[in-house]
Amino acid sequence: MEEKSINIKMKVYRYDELSEQDRRLVDEARQATKRSYSPYSKFRVGAAILMDNGEIVTGANQENAAYPSGTCAERSACFYAHARYPEAKFRTIAIAARDTSGHFTSVPTAPCGACRQSLLEYETLAGAPVRVILYGEETCYVLPSVASLLPLCFANFD
Ligand code: THU
Repeated sequence: MEEKSINIKMKVYRYDELSEQDRRLVDEARQATKRSYSPYSKFRVGAAILMDNGEIVTGANQENAAYPSGTCAERSACFYAHARYPEAKFRTIAIAARDTSGHFTSVPTAPCGACRQSLLEYETLAGAPVRVILYGEETCYVLPSVASLLPLCFANFD
């Protein structure tokens, strides 16, 4: 028997320590929370994707009376980004969320498993790591890639 461990590396910043470009993307994600449609959970999530053509595409969670029909902010952003700019590669994604009282979460909100898998597809298409910035009012986590959020991921083995 052999025991192995998988470690992920991330950097922890305060918002004001981020680069100007990263702060701009985080600001877009924070703004996008205002476009969340979440009357059921009242948890507003925003995502902003920087593409290699310089465009920033945003998304927000969209809920539905039939609960499973809704979608998360990250998937709304990545599906729209690729539908809008199919030739462009993703570079960085920023995610922010406001809790049920309307305040940004003090610690970062991390994407759910389905969003990690969906984002991984676009990282694979990009052929290069897509940085992930998770915003919290007190701390932000910066991960070097989507893959680092999804160890032992399922990939297409064609
Ligand atoms: N949500 C996101 O938008 N992103 C995540 O990564 C986790 C959860 C949304 C889904 C639902 O509209 C609300 O947050 C509460 O789960």
